[in-house]
Amino acid sequence: MQVTEETLETRPAQAQPARTLTPEQIGQFERDGYLLLENHFTPEEVRLLLDEIPHVFAEDSPRRIKETSGAVRSVFAVHTTNHTFRCLSYLNRLVEPARQLLGSEVYIHQFKVNAKVALEGDQWEWHQDFLYWHKEDGMPSPRVLTAVVFLQDVDEFNGPMLLIPGSHREGMIDVEAQPVNAPSAGGDGARWMPTLTADLKYKIDRDILADLLRRHSILATKGAAGFTLFFHGNLFHASATNLSPNDRVGVFITYNSIENMLDEVEHPRPAFIASRDFSPIVPVPDDSLLKLRHDPDE
Ligand code: SIN
Ligand code: MN
Repeated sequence: MQVTEETLETRPAQAQPARTLTPEQIGQFERDGYLLLENHFTPEEVRLLLDEIPHVFAEDSPRRIKETSGAVRSVFAVHTTNHTFRCLSYLNRLVEPARQLLGSEVYIHQFKVNAKVALEGDQWEWHQDFLYWHKEDGMPSPRVLTAVVFLQDVDEFNGPMLLIPGSHREGMIDVEAQPVNAPSAGGDGARWMPTLTADLKYKIDRDILADLLRRHSILATKGAAGFTLFFHGNLFHASATNLSPNDRVGVFITYNSIENMLDEVEHPRPAFIASRDFSPIVPVPDDSLLKLRHDPDE
């Protein structure tokens, strides 16, 4: 099937009522910096997305980042190559909450599938995403959030995302770039690879973490496949290695306000990590994923 903008954008978004957040949910996001929505995707939709994963992971491309073990860690910009994931990223039930929470139209700054493979999926150190987007990509303000759609059950053993609720209200905590062991990316890749690996470029130290935890506490985000996490660009988060026999595949879609477009930077990261296509997303109806299965040529 051809992957084109038109196939998704010509379908009217008002075919189904918009799934909007309640004022309480918006207030909760503003207070805690995250929102967890259980059963945001049905088992059938989850299956449809999971069926695509072996193809996504098999594609040899610079967009695919490996763990030191050789297992797939992340694959970036999958929405630009795979119709099902493109459809996911345009779904009303993700785009509309993002628009409500950011108070404007949105575009996709970054899209990645994190594999967190059984026994091989490595850690993500404590960090704030906005620090990377601000320092590396020229994003002016933290008017940005990420929606994470978990395609497998997440429990305490397979590396749940750990959040520090309320920590987004501390603002961006600037930390010095660390000298890190970048896997051989070659050429320019050596510059941006340490922003994606288990040995992160900007990591917070024990004192900063201890200080944060005097005012906040840590929450592990667990749930049944299909749950979705929205979290603020300044929310501190991390995850441990996967010590279980179960993978923890999550799809991370970062929506940025169109009023928060990237400034020019001296060494821009590749477009598959930091998009400079600021066109607002036109959402597609919430039944579009299932329609893809039933009308695969649409
Ligand atoms: C991230 O912080 O970008 C990813 C965290 C995770 O996959 O657990
Ligand atoms: Mn992150």
